[in-house]
Amino acid sequence: MFPIHQTKSAAHARRIRMPETQSFPDKRLAHPAGRAPRIFADTAVIDDIEPLFRAGIITGVTTNPSLMKKAGATSWDEARDISRRILKLMEPYPVSLELTEVGQREMIAQAEQLGQWGDNAVIKVPVGGYIALSSQADPFTGLKVIRALWELDIRTNATLIFNSTQALWAAQAGATFVSPFLGRLADYAYQNDHPERPPGNSLYWIEDHKNTAGDQHLFNSEYVASGGPRKDIGIRLIQEIAVIFGNYDIHSEILAASIRNFAQITECLLAGADILTVPADILRQIPHHPLTEAGMKTFYSDSQVFTK
Ligand code: E4P
Repeated sequence: MFPIHQTKSAAHARRIRMPETQSFPDKRLAHPAGRAPRIFADTAVIDDIEPLFRAGIITGVTTNPSLMKKAGATSWDEARDISRRILKLMEPYPVSLELTEVGQREMIAQAEQLGQWGDNAVIKVPVGGYIALSSQADPFTGLKVIRALWELDIRTNATLIFNSTQALWAAQAGATFVSPFLGRLADYAYQNDHPERPPGNSLYWIEDHKNTAGDQHLFNSEYVASGGPRKDIGIRLIQEIAVIFGNYDIHSEILAASIRNFAQITECLLAGADILTVPADILRQIPHHPLTEAGMKTFYSDSQVFTK
């Protein structure tokens, strides 16, 4: 649906206006990848984070309550200790910590508390979904909290984004980062695809009238970021946001989240994501390629003929 040249020019226009993320004032040789996309680790396990950080692979971390639980936190105190250790290790790079309160006033108070744990804390705010917890809830709670935190000069990461309008509204509210969950969207589409559905922003609307499998349909659209066509509604979402943010010079960074495999990493980069947050087990596999291993073996064994 989007031709590749359109994404490329939108992404390029956007990146040249972004600040350099690698700047070393004392070096004469400018860094060749000053505005390259960054990689964050999507985990709260410090033993996963540390080696990736020391190797210079990641420059940020994203967490959420499920990742905290997976990292072993069974109480708020334990979650706080884990968060503080990650913040300290990663300083000055951003670490997203998600709000667990659901009322507007309580969320703002919790955000201020999390912000005191480290200057590099970024507050993760769900863009909506509060009606899932109470039918009386204000569906704009997340956006109002993002706005209030922007007014307090607190950086936010708008999370649980599943369509480009949510991303735009989060940016307009003042979100520093927007996190489209491309993997969850793709997973859902694979399970509930409905090819007859007409295209449009309603692509991302899940029909769930009676909460029965038969009533849930989602159109898995074509995307052409790598010369396509190939179906992946999640990547198409990244591409849409990149084009929209490029068109309107929006500086909120697109943090592609919920990544499931290597293919999605490449595709997110082609689609114009600013940052990718990737599970540690996927990041650890990246150096391995059978041809890299085979080539290294040959080079090493040939080097053994050189006498020292
Ligand atoms: C993003 O910041 C989230 O922590 C994460 O990417 C969610 O991914 P999941 O769909 O694998 O839970």
